[in-house]
Amino acid sequence: MLSRKTLKLIGCGNYCRSCILTSNNCKTLTSVKFGTSRSSSLHCPLALTFSKLRYQKAGMCSGFQIGRNCSSKSQNRPVVTTTMDEEELKHFQALAKSWWDETGDFEALHAMNKLRVPFIRDGLVDQNDIVESDGLPLKDLTIVDVGSGGGILSEPLARLGAFVIGLDPVEESTTIAQLHLKEDPRVQCRVKYINGSVEDLASTESEKFDAVVASEVVEHVADLVSFVESCCKLLKPGGSLFITTMNKTVLSKSLAVFAAEKVFKIVPEGTHDWEKFVPPEDLKVILENNNMDVKMIHGMLYLPVFREWKWVKDTSINYALHAVKIDPTDVADDRL
Ligand SMILES: C[S@@+](CC[C@H](N)C(=O)[O-])C[C@H]1O[C@@H](n2cnc3c(N)ncnc32)[C@H](O)[C@@H]1O
Repeated sequence: MLSRKTLKLIGCGNYCRSCILTSNNCKTLTSVKFGTSRSSSLHCPLALTFSKLRYQKAGMCSGFQIGRNCSSKSQNRPVVTTTMDEEELKHFQALAKSWWDETGDFEALHAMNKLRVPFIRDGLVDQNDIVESDGLPLKDLTIVDVGSGGGILSEPLARLGAFVIGLDPVEESTTIAQLHLKEDPRVQCRVKYINGSVEDLASTESEKFDAVVASEVVEHVADLVSFVESCCKLLKPGGSLFITTMNKTVLSKSLAVFAAEKVFKIVPEGTHDWEKFVPPEDLKVILENNNMDVKMIHGMLYLPVFREWKWVKDTSINYALHAVKIDPTDVADDRL
């Protein structure tokens, strides 16, 4: 079990007044990893069951290191690997240093923020009937950014007031993401990065979050159905899931894979495996099987010459989706 002293190291300052994580020194925070399962109460959104998380400096194995399970210290810990594709994770491990190079390997993801950040903000504002007054429309909402990489999307969501858990199985990425937080004091205490898998988080933090975001991730997972199921499980009833991904069409094979990787070099070669792309109709069925109501599907198009994304009607290459977890109490009310 973590000592109180260790817990102080991972405290989240002002947002944790009522919990045992009372340190205001969030500069000492590093990315945290999952440890053993243990029940705990959630005092503040970012105090996310810290009794189950181990401070990295303690030198514990996470159970999620790429390509192998961990040594003796984690022997009793369940290692769940269902959604993680080892080759994919190695690919992102190799690219981890480039996350914050805005004209480098992840340029298209940086550019996508112009569409996806407002998409998520507006979806949450509508869904939660938020009346904004202070420039922080997502104030007090808790979001899990699944597959957060270097934090390109986690940070702007935190700047809108949300508490964001950035979750990624690649340790190099969560480390880079954590370091980058230092550059903006406004987000330092609103974002926590966790090195781990969505299925593990979902096994202990069911129905805890207002929103889950999986942007450009589902096309990289080993088991789409389990991945989506875990994302949905994390949501409170009425919570929102936002996904951006690629459709599985002839056009996406020629443009999003061939042209993007070999001609325009928008993303490094080998980034995408077309076989894993997901038609929106299939994603909708998986979501409906998880008690989700799909509210919106929008097409997106990248214009390499302008290095910009545009909303388009056509969903045959890229698309963004917003779904909401059906609240059983609303269904019961409707029946009255
Ligand atoms: C294309 S990047 C997107 C990063 C981030 N969402 C963004 O848009 O800026 C895909 C990310 O998904 C992560 N990833 C791959 N498989 C995953 C899985 N099974 N569960 C969670 N994240 C995964 C990778 O490590 C990588 O950081």
